[in-house]
Amino acid sequence: MTFNPTDVLHPEFTAQAPETLWPHISAHYDVDEADWLRRLTPLAAPVGDEAARIEELAGELITAARDHSEGLHKIDALLLEYSLDTREGVLLMCLAEALLRVPDKDTADALIEDKIGGANWNEHLGKSDSLFANASTWGLMVAGKVVTLDKKESAGVLAKLVDSASEPVVRKAMREAMKIMGRHFVLGQTIGEALKRARKDRDQGASHSFDMLGEAALTDEDAKRYEAAYSAAITAIGKERYAGKTNRPATISIKLSALHPRYEPAQEARVMSEMLERVKRLLVQARAAGVGVNIDAEEADRLEMSLKLYQQLFTDPDLIGWGELGIVVQAYSKRALPVLAWITALAKAHKQRIPVRLVKGAYWDAELKKSQQKGLVDYPVYTQKPATDLAYLACARFMLSDAAKPALYPQFATHNAHSVAAIRAMAAPNAEYEFQRLNGMGDALYDHVLENFGVNVCIYAPVGHHKDLLAYLVRRLLENGANSSFVHRLIDAETPIGELTTHPVNDLDLSLSPIPKPAAILPGRVNSKGVSIDIESQWEPLKSAVQKAAKVKLVAKPIILGKEKRGEKHALPCPFNHSEIAGEVIWASAADIDKALNAKPPKAWPVAKRAKWARNLADAMEADMPALIALCQSEAGKTWQDAIDEIREAVDFCRYYAGELEGQPKSFIGPDGLEVKISHKPLGTFACISPWNFPLAIFLGQ
Ligand code: FAD
Ligand code: 2OP
Repeated sequence: MTFNPTDVLHPEFTAQAPETLWPHISAHYDVDEADWLRRLTPLAAPVGDEAARIEELAGELITAARDHSEGLHKIDALLLEYSLDTREGVLLMCLAEALLRVPDKDTADALIEDKIGGANWNEHLGKSDSLFANASTWGLMVAGKVVTLDKKESAGVLAKLVDSASEPVVRKAMREAMKIMGRHFVLGQTIGEALKRARKDRDQGASHSFDMLGEAALTDEDAKRYEAAYSAAITAIGKERYAGKTNRPATISIKLSALHPRYEPAQEARVMSEMLERVKRLLVQARAAGVGVNIDAEEADRLEMSLKLYQQLFTDPDLIGWGELGIVVQAYSKRALPVLAWITALAKAHKQRIPVRLVKGAYWDAELKKSQQKGLVDYPVYTQKPATDLAYLACARFMLSDAAKPALYPQFATHNAHSVAAIRAMAAPNAEYEFQRLNGMGDALYDHVLENFGVNVCIYAPVGHHKDLLAYLVRRLLENGANSSFVHRLIDAETPIGELTTHPVNDLDLSLSPIPKPAAILPGRVNSKGVSIDIESQWEPLKSAVQKAAKVKLVAKPIILGKEKRGEKHALPCPFNHSEIAGEVIWASAADIDKALNAKPPKAWPVAKRAKWARNLADAMEADMPALIALCQSEAGKTWQDAIDEIREAVDFCRYYAGELEGQPKSFIGPDGLEVKISHKPLGTFACISPWNFPLAIFLGQ
């Protein structure tokens, strides 16, 4: 159920009831990338003289940003030096991540040793002009020596310098480096401090959206703490009277995952009651205080649920008519355009404006990994950088079109000079919209925009303590460290301006598929196929198939030498509800077991045939997943996700052992130098007791 992307340019399309457009969202979860991009291209492609204007404007912005004396931050230099495509860069990220999380010193030292031993720090030394990058390289190199030198033997100067005391020194130095990064990206540890530090930018004409650090609450206590932080910030922002040169009041950005420990589709009832109440309290407070709110976009699994929550809040009698409840849309999501269409329809249905911040999306690496881990058919995000850039412009074209007016207030959040230039060129001269940047990023670019474009620039400003910074910081490091990222290429003086001003429509190569599909990521075997229970278009058909399968009550019985046993059937109650019957069972007697054990085993099959049958079994289980899920649930009381995971484990076992079987050598050379032939004969008949909590996977594994 896909639609033609250019349909969105007709105002009637988004004049439909939001419910009519809703199914399009889920249907686009994992649409074919090349096909969908081909259809998005007409929205993104330059029209009239746009191409020339974009190129010229992008060139102007890049030159301004590169010329800017403060354009190259110490952090940028560090990240440029340690690009994520080097082993050292990856290790640095790991170390940053680990050090912020590790509470005790010994573990921190052990991690330092583990992460940085053996990497080639010497090569980076002296390459970067920035003292910070070099100082940090020294730190890493010194630590590298510590862990690679044999401490007993080491007589060298370095070794003496950094003897046993060095790991704590490095730990301290790295923590300091993390703090520097923290100060760079975070505007203040408290909202009071942040409001004060924001004045300088306000004087230049920028506005702010404050974000209280903290996300992915794991306990209700965490969630309450984050709620209190947001609430205190709303009060403080509401009281701030410092105007500066901007007439845009400050807003607050909220991460929903901070506000409930079970913010997940499987807990929708709790999300739509407990969590909704919590978010509503904050929104009602913000409305009364005159502080606009923006709901940040997080992981793809949570998108549909977050939209349902948003709709409920948007139409709540205490919030309706506010006009300052904004939402973020991620362009890297294949669902971005259908989401925008739905949001516009919602705004139109209630004759109320919705501020929409368009971003590219900050969870790209995690989305890929999660889809691979879940064995999904395809990815919910694009896999080529120009694809996301193109989709960003396609979405922007719609947001700036008459069809979206005045339903949306477009907010374009990007640090990419080409994206900025394209939006500027696409927007009508009197269009109402703004640009947004993150605190500590894109300053030089946006100084130029503020001075020359007459468009509002809003700064997303994280506030909080460094202990809550980790997730945010890692996203920034990944984003800035990736060699495909615009910022990374901007500060690399060797990247010619011409390469940075190419339009994504020209950059995109649809014949490429740079990342294998989740099924194909493993060497030598097919990954087991999963299904997402978080996505309506996958969950609904799965749920009905499982419900249908659950109606068929099976009879479990011994099969000896291919013959089914007949006998008395006993009802088998479900473990979680004894009045519900999972099925019936004909028990095996001691005599049956003897009979099975004593039976002459059938003639052994050749290896290839056994491997083929193991794979056939895997395919059959995948095809029969709904029935097996129903069984795992009724017989072992499994949750949906546990049941899916168990079946996938069983499938993986079959394919894995089929490969092992075929890959086995026919002989090997023993310690005495003689050849030992390997027998591929089956080992015979086994008695297996499979654990109740893995009735399928471990039974099959055995
Ligand atoms: P670019 O370098 O042009 O783009 C980088 C982006 O391209 C990556 O982040 C990724 O999205 C995408 N990308 C990279 N490699 C590939 C690839 N191989 N295939 C496909 N796509 C790829 N992000 C959120 O997720 N939620 C938010 O709520 C949010 N709020 C933000 C608010 C503001 C004000 C700003 C400025 C950013 C916000 N972001 C948010 C972060 C935003 O998603 C990233 O800053 C942004 O992705 C970087 O894009 P860019 O245009 O600046 O840089
Ligand atoms: C993030 O937290 C800015 O919302 C974005 O990464």
